[in-house]
Amino acid sequence: MAEALRVLYVTSEVFPLAKTGGLGDVSSVLPSTLRQLGVDARILMPAYPDVIARLDARPVGAPVPTLPSLEPVQLFQGILPDAVPGALTPVYAIASPTLYARSGGPYADDSGHDWPDNAIRFAVLSKVAALMGCGAGPDDWWPHIVHCNDWQSGLTPAYLALADSVRARSVLSIHNLAFQGNFSPDLMPALGLPWSCFHPRGVEFYGQISYLKAGLHYADHISTVSRSYAREIQTPEFGFGMQGLLVEANDRLTGIMNGIDALRWNPATDPYLAAPYSSEDLSGKLDNKRLLQARLALEPDPELPILALVTRLTYQKGVDLVLGLVDELLEQPLQWAVLGSGDKAYEAQWRALAEIYPGRVGVSIGYHEELAHLVEAGADLFLMPSRFEPCGLNQMYSMRYGVLPVVRRTGGLADSVVDITPRSLLDGAATGFVFENANREELRACLLRALLLYRDQATWRQAQLHGMRRDFSWAASAARYLELYRTLQPGWSSM
Ligand code: ADP
Ligand code: GLC
Repeated sequence: MAEALRVLYVTSEVFPLAKTGGLGDVSSVLPSTLRQLGVDARILMPAYPDVIARLDARPVGAPVPTLPSLEPVQLFQGILPDAVPGALTPVYAIASPTLYARSGGPYADDSGHDWPDNAIRFAVLSKVAALMGCGAGPDDWWPHIVHCNDWQSGLTPAYLALADSVRARSVLSIHNLAFQGNFSPDLMPALGLPWSCFHPRGVEFYGQISYLKAGLHYADHISTVSRSYAREIQTPEFGFGMQGLLVEANDRLTGIMNGIDALRWNPATDPYLAAPYSSEDLSGKLDNKRLLQARLALEPDPELPILALVTRLTYQKGVDLVLGLVDELLEQPLQWAVLGSGDKAYEAQWRALAEIYPGRVGVSIGYHEELAHLVEAGADLFLMPSRFEPCGLNQMYSMRYGVLPVVRRTGGLADSVVDITPRSLLDGAATGFVFENANREELRACLLRALLLYRDQATWRQAQLHGMRRDFSWAASAARYLELYRTLQPGWSSM
């Protein structure tokens, strides 16, 4: 039997061990799906509190020296819990009591302030990945491909480029170009980087060390999470200053749309729902609407359309555009269901609206996996008026759950939602409502169009069924990553 292609998937969050957004979802399903395709994919992540216990992990190898002035770190190995059935995905977790064993989130403390030593915390993640890519990891397993994600593992390709005996090729996936990991150049010695690479054709970006820039510069290949976003980031509007580099890197840049975890996000089997339903029988959706109304203290009226948001409450997501329309839209018979956390000002505004409109605006501030599922099951419209959206997962969850998404035509939203027109309805493609520009007027017009269609339940049902029958599973996208790995390591097949 041919030897399997080995891939180390390096990430700062993996569901269900740590998740702040879509990267957590992607990091658990993509490696597991690759394993189903015969790839020996393994995950590398920091051992945040509980990670070792939840992985049931054991120490592997001797402690590994990483950055010049740090104690060596101990790696542990276990199996990702609740992954794709049949895919026992190994996870290497980097234990360091001083760097990762603290309560709070992966990137910030409980009050939302970034950890002051993030530069070191994620340089260590990057360095361990590079060591494994050189065959100098904790055990004798070494990867053909080191697949890095976002700025947190952006230094890996740089460390690989500087190493003597490299075995692996590197891929860097951009999930969000707005987060760049830019730090003071004073850190160069602590990071073990020579000053010769503090250069525009190296790790330097406008006078700082940029982990993302470093990754983009040194990676053998760059991918991002939709075709449209791959195009957009080559323009000043979406490039966050890195568009020049990305235009230059065009021939090693690929857009591959994310899939969704089609088992966890399936209304027919979702354990968080009041009742299961499917495209064959949608009747259970009404029970979920009732439960959602009860959970968010909304009036128990099954006739009213529920407009929903589940999101990080940030400027990227166009939350301000929605907030500016809530009063006006409440002149119509409808309800709001909002689950989110993020910017404190947006959180306060949503809380205030819930107080002004009891029974009509239901708000839960915080992070609740279970409620996120119930919102999808109980809502009618799901709003994503994002200023930019590399991929977006909730529009796909929405379509799968018979909820019509209202999205701005950008990034992965543009690539996954088909606007409802007489033509697209006829073609069987129509799944939601799409508008062009991120401003309040266009969002308003789009929502009014959606609310009008809600009165035509037969057409509404048609669009629901189109969305529910679309295949958003990972199989096709994981196969594209495999193709990409093979172009970088020709000769390696899968098991
Ligand atoms: P991003 O990664 O930019 O936040 P995505 O659409 O890719 O956006 O993914 C967001 C993920 O996080 C989805 O799985 C969504 O359901 C989840 N999510 C966001 N906010 C919350 C929340 N407050 N509670 C539960 N899940 C949330
Ligand atoms: C990022 C993006 C989001 C994408 C997710 C997973 O957080 O903002 O659009 O879906 O990563 O790739």
